[in-house]
Amino acid sequence: MSRAAVLCGLGGSLPERIVSNEELAEQLDTSDRWIRTRTGIGQRHVVAPGQSTSDLAVAAGAQALASARATAGRADDGVDPVDPVDPVDLVVLATSTPDRPCPATAPDVAHRLGLGHVPSFDVSAVCTGFVYALATAASMITAGIAGRALVIGADTFSTILDPADRTTRAIFGDGAGAVVLRAGDSGEPGALLGFDLGSDGSGADLITVRAGGSRQRSVPGPAAEGEEFFTMDGRPVFTRAVLDMSRSSQSLLERVGWSAAEVDKVVAHQANIRILNAVGEQLGLEEKQIVANLDRVGNTVAASIPLALRDAVAGGELQPGHRVLLTGFGGGLTWGSAALVWPELETGRPHR
Ligand code: COA
Repeated sequence: MSRAAVLCGLGGSLPERIVSNEELAEQLDTSDRWIRTRTGIGQRHVVAPGQSTSDLAVAAGAQALASARATAGRADDGVDPVDPVDPVDLVVLATSTPDRPCPATAPDVAHRLGLGHVPSFDVSAVCTGFVYALATAASMITAGIAGRALVIGADTFSTILDPADRTTRAIFGDGAGAVVLRAGDSGEPGALLGFDLGSDGSGADLITVRAGGSRQRSVPGPAAEGEEFFTMDGRPVFTRAVLDMSRSSQSLLERVGWSAAEVDKVVAHQANIRILNAVGEQLGLEEKQIVANLDRVGNTVAASIPLALRDAVAGGELQPGHRVLLTGFGGGLTWGSAALVWPELETGRPHR
């Protein structure tokens, strides 16, 4: 047994407003049939005017903290989700839609959650952000730098999409998901057993927002029209997503010593049901091993994996003792996987 980071709390938050495929079809040249058959998505949630990534991150974080407190068997007062006995001493927020380009959004989230002067920072790896953030926080725990971490994935891509782009508007939705990690040992359920991470910057242009960074701002004059919007080259992204999530999953499974058949649930980044099925085929998985909630939420970027975990737990699909493989792929290009045995978790009361 060795010191390890153990998952002990889970939460999530979605904005209230739901945009159905039918509503999109009223505004754009698309249809419910096209979106469902080509992506598997039926609806997505979008933020209200004035609502931002940090708002969703705070709500998801509060729920994960309440879950951790309840899992530890401590009273939940319904008001303050922070555990007075074992407070969080690290916040890592995965997002590529921060509230502002500078500073990071994590310190504001930590402050609003009442966590005091804890170290907090953002991780930017687009749809792989949650796995990168999980690996960062877990490493800080195993290194003894932190004892208890709140890891959040939150994005509001509706704020950076081109309103006229039928492809990206069909795919992306807003949301936040969060977990709490505590120091424990590698033999416990919930211990993060290993990671596989990678990137390939030669594909940086495939998923991008061209304006708003130093490259564009160092050129005199305003950004060219439309450069402030998110763009994606769907076909090559599809191919790389299948390839890189499959390869990353395979190499992690080898390291952890599990066969694909021994994995109970694969919780992959929810980008497109055809990508999930293709990864399943590459790994030789059966349909029942693959968790999918994208029909209800779309691609929620850094929130995707923790929201899929939350829905799988709520629906009874994910049970304590299950061997779980997480795998993600996103802009950068980036990819990453993590493995754990699912722990017994209490959900805690949602805090407002
Ligand atoms: N409604 C109707 N038609 C649409 C559409 C929409 N919402 N979006 C695209 N189309 C059209 C295209 O314009 C194209 O028309 P054309 O043949 O007249 O040029 C046609 O559908 C096929 O487009 P194509 O891009 O080849 O479709 P596809 O089957 O590859 O599906 C994606 C497009 C974007 C759904 C798919 O490529 C994908 O999921 N890519 C990966 C996305 C992803 O994972 N992103 C996040 C990574 S983290």
